[in-house]
Amino acid sequence: MRILTGITTSGTPHLGNYVGAIRPAIAASAAPGVESFYFLADYHALIKVSEPARVQRSTLEIAAAWLACGLDPQRVWFYRQSDIPEIPELTWLLTCVAAKGLLNRAHAYKAAVDRNLAQGDDADAGVTAGLFMYPVLMAADILMFNADQVPVGRDQVQHIEMARDIGARFNHLYGDPAAIPFFTLPEAAIEEHVATLPGLDGRKMSKSYDNTIPLFAARGELKKLIAGIVTDSRLPGEAKDTEGSNVFALYQAFASASETAAMRQAFAEGIGWGDAKQQLFARIDAEIAPLRERFHGLIAHPDRIEQQLRAGADKARQIAMPLLARLREAVGLRNLGEHAPKHAAPTQATTVAPQFKQYREADGRFYFKLVDGAGRVLLQSTGFAAAREAGALVGRAKSGAMGADELLRHATLAEGIDAAALTAALRALHAAE
Ligand code: TRP
Repeated sequence: MRILTGITTSGTPHLGNYVGAIRPAIAASAAPGVESFYFLADYHALIKVSEPARVQRSTLEIAAAWLACGLDPQRVWFYRQSDIPEIPELTWLLTCVAAKGLLNRAHAYKAAVDRNLAQGDDADAGVTAGLFMYPVLMAADILMFNADQVPVGRDQVQHIEMARDIGARFNHLYGDPAAIPFFTLPEAAIEEHVATLPGLDGRKMSKSYDNTIPLFAARGELKKLIAGIVTDSRLPGEAKDTEGSNVFALYQAFASASETAAMRQAFAEGIGWGDAKQQLFARIDAEIAPLRERFHGLIAHPDRIEQQLRAGADKARQIAMPLLARLREAVGLRNLGEHAPKHAAPTQATTVAPQFKQYREADGRFYFKLVDGAGRVLLQSTGFAAAREAGALVGRAKSGAMGADELLRHATLAEGIDAAALTAALRALHAAE
């Protein structure tokens, strides 16, 4: 299962980003069986921000923030979008199949047009082609790595649907129906369980409302900002509502269940707003202080972060390069001296380990396939009634506990693949695990 998400590098990370994105993403990346891709969407930042220093500073701060919060770059793919030249290249290939009418319907673009028309301006006044193309660049981000799931807020769901649409169209136009499609069609994983954090004024914490608490504000500043959170005017001793209280919602986002219950009780008993804010400050600072210290340690050495991001890009390009080579071949950007068969696998692809893919077919049964780095099917399983059965076989094959012979009792080799090739693939997979 591959999870991918991008963070636009257009600002300073705040508590809302931490609670809504950074903290849950890092927790999810520790789950077994998940491959996580997190990247700094700096090309996307250029659509909104025209101050170069701000793009650079934001990229540094966001990278340092994710690392300080415990992201492990050994375990995940952590990279900067602009370090992957395959992404803009794929953007162009997708641009050539994306329907303009689809892009006309994108919410952000439509909102800009509606604003212009309401003011009596030309429909496209002040609208860049970058804003218009935003969904295609985002589709390239996602499709490049065959992400299964993209955790996003509600505002981004349309973009994921567009990525599916554009990916499906490319698969259909250039793919071989008998082979594994070029692109996995991604699904939006909407984070409904992650509460949106209120900002200082009670609206959703967001840069655009200017109501944020910077994630790594100094202690004194954190305290001052918390003191400024809007509350009602009830006096100490008067019972207070937890429902609709910004102080309570923020507290809850950082507290354990028992701490939250105690605070609920304190509200009922009329805790003063000053005391409640003091407890909120103490609770947030207890979680953030060690991260803040790490953040400052990291940001003091931007060159080290630069190195980490470049290493992350190398790792990500091991996936991007072979896929892009296949795509170039598929659309006809080919070596003129070679008479390549239509869907020949590129030679680089062999550097990427083969992998098992598990899925369910329309017949309701569970299957697995073994696919090499170029996406070629090596082995196709029979159908299983339970996902567990398929999963157990895959697990044993991956661990080396089951060899080719036994595997072939549950699966058949693809055309042109022999048992020796299967054994070699299993060995490569095992070496890469
Ligand atoms: N558009 C996303 C946002 O503003 C950022 C982003 C860029 C992204 N590319 C992505 C998110 C790919 C998920 C997947 O929040």
